[in-house]
This record gives sequence, C-alpha cells and structure tokens, in this order.
Amino acid sequence: MVNLKFRTLEWKNDTLLLLDQRKLPNIVTDVACTTPEQTAEAIRNLTVRGAPAIGVAAAYGLLLAVDLSASGPQVLTDLEKAALLLGSARPTAVNLQWAVDRMMGIAAIYHDLNAADLREHLSEEAVAIHEEDMAMCRKIGEHGAPLLADGMTVLTHCNAGALATSGIGTALSVIYTAQAQRKRIKVYVDETRPVLQGARLTMWELMQQRIDATLITDSTAASLFGAGKIDAVIVGADRIAANGDVANKIGTYNVAVLAAHHGVPFYVAAPRSTFDKKIATGAEIPIEERSPAEVTGVGAARTAPTSAKVFSPAFDVTPHRLITAIVSDRGVQTGGR
Ligand code: MRU
Repeated sequence: MVNLKFRTLEWKNDTLLLLDQRKLPNIVTDVACTTPEQTAEAIRNLTVRGAPAIGVAAAYGLLLAVDLSASGPQVLTDLEKAALLLGSARPTAVNLQWAVDRMMGIAAIYHDLNAADLREHLSEEAVAIHEEDMAMCRKIGEHGAPLLADGMTVLTHCNAGALATSGIGTALSVIYTAQAQRKRIKVYVDETRPVLQGARLTMWELMQQRIDATLITDSTAASLFGAGKIDAVIVGADRIAANGDVANKIGTYNVAVLAAHHGVPFYVAAPRSTFDKKIATGAEIPIEERSPAEVTGVGAARTAPTSAKVFSPAFDVTPHRLITAIVSDRGVQTGGR
C-alpha cells in the first residue's frame, strides 16, 4: 500500500483545487478554479500538468461550466464552448481530449434532461474519470513493480509521479510499489530542462515519499550509463501511437538512445487514457511548442541574450524500437527492443 503525503487535485465545495506546481518546491499552496476559463488557464500555465492530471482537471472544468450556465438549451452551448477551450489548452497529451470527449459524450446523451439531472450525470462522470485514474495508477504500479529487483538503480525523466496524475503516478507508481514491497530502489532524477519538472517536482515528491533520490543535470545521464550505474529507465508518456511510438517530455528520446546503446532496459508507464489508437505513428502526434521565455532564462533570471532565437518543443517522440516494454493498467506489453 502506497500512502501519499500530498494530493495533486481535489474537487471540494464545487471548486477545483489544484496544488500549484509552478511554485513547488518552495511554496506548497493551492489554486482554486471556479470557472472553465480558470481551469484552462491553469492547464496552459502548468499550475496542473502531466497527462492524466490535466485530463481529470478538464473533466471538472466542464462541471464548472454547467454550474455557471443558465438552464435550458444554453447549457449545451456553454459546455461546447468550454470543451473547445479546455481541449485545446495543451495539444500533446491525449488524456486531455479523452476526458473532454467522455464528458461531452454524457452531455450528448442527457442534454434534454433538466439542469439538475444533467449536472448529476456529468458530476458522476467527472468523479468516475478521477477514480479510474487513481485505480489505473495503482494497477500500473502492481504490473510494473516486478520489473524492478531489490537494489536496482533507476533513471527517470520529467515528472510522471503523483503530481502528474490524481493517483500515485505512472512511472513513479512502479517505484513506490516496489518500495512498498520492501525492495530498495535508488533513483537518479534528470533535472529536465527547461521547466525543471525533475528538479522541482520529482525530487520533491520522491523526497516526500522517502525514496533514495539523486538529482542530476540532463547531460550527466550519459556518463552514468557509461559507468554502469543505471539498471533501468522508467518514464511516463503523453501519447502512445498505435505502433507504440511514445511522446513524452523533451529529452526522453535522448535517454532512450542512451539506454539502447548501453543495453539498459527502457520502460514506459502509462494508463489506457494515454493510448491513441486513432493515430498510426508518432509522426502524427502534435508537439507543443512553448514560450521562448522558458529557455532564455532560469526562473526570473535571464541567461540568453535579449531576442535570442529559440526553438522549444515541450515533447519528443521515442520510436517503439527503442522501448523495452510499456507498462499500463492492463499489464506489461513488450516493446520493440
Ligand atoms: O509539460 P508537462 O510537465 O505536462 O510534461 C509531463 C510529462 O512529459 C510526463 O512525463 C507525462 O505527462 C506523463 S505523466 C504521468
């Protein structure tokens, strides 16, 4: 049993509370969302981030749209407007549109009911999306933990932990579950430039959960592989194409190439909401480009010359041939390596 020392999001008193991930690890505080616009903005500005977490947040964002809407035919129009806004807040993680589509599927079935009954159905669906996410995280841990033996050292990139989901995480769920089974696991954490999800978020949550974690710069990974200090890599995913190509945080592909070169297993952990059977290969996955400001400085300090030209994709695609296995809530699928 894995017990978390914090929670990423919560629906309380008809308000969506989000742990503000922009401020971690220095300040632990919530942002309260009471409108779909605030929820979409919180997704865009990374108050809440990580593929499963933004899906759950968007589901509650649609519930907020119903609460604010006048009753009658206006409800469906308002929901459609909010669905467009929330679904387009970030393009790469398919979980976002998956959750919006589930909510709108319920709206399509029940929109003729009175406002209170429609709200009840949408509320049940949002809670189901939330609870299923928590359950899928637990299952990923159960399926993945046997891949980690006592004494192993694992490398992870970005944050695919509890902070990226509404449960115990995906990649980190495997580590938490292995630890709960009394295996001693050490973790190297890539800092994950430019937004530092590894340094700020993964380190914070692993330390909260008392995992033996060591922070490294992204460029340190190769020398650790070379020195034989990494036994396995485990990362999350934002979208998995039908052929098994995986989009995840920028830099994941680098790590996969390093792992293949050094004969180290490379595992991806993701719930079923991350699989996109509608697209054939990773080449079709839309890759978000973020503001140059995330690259031209560190925090508030500017590090690049003013008006430096920047290219800042937030994600890359790791080809299926570099992946040893994909761990999902359904089990472990062998990859192409
Ligand atoms: O830009 P972010 O912080 O939302 O990127 C998150 C990641 O790339 C995670 O690895 C991914 O969403 C998997 S989360 C379980």
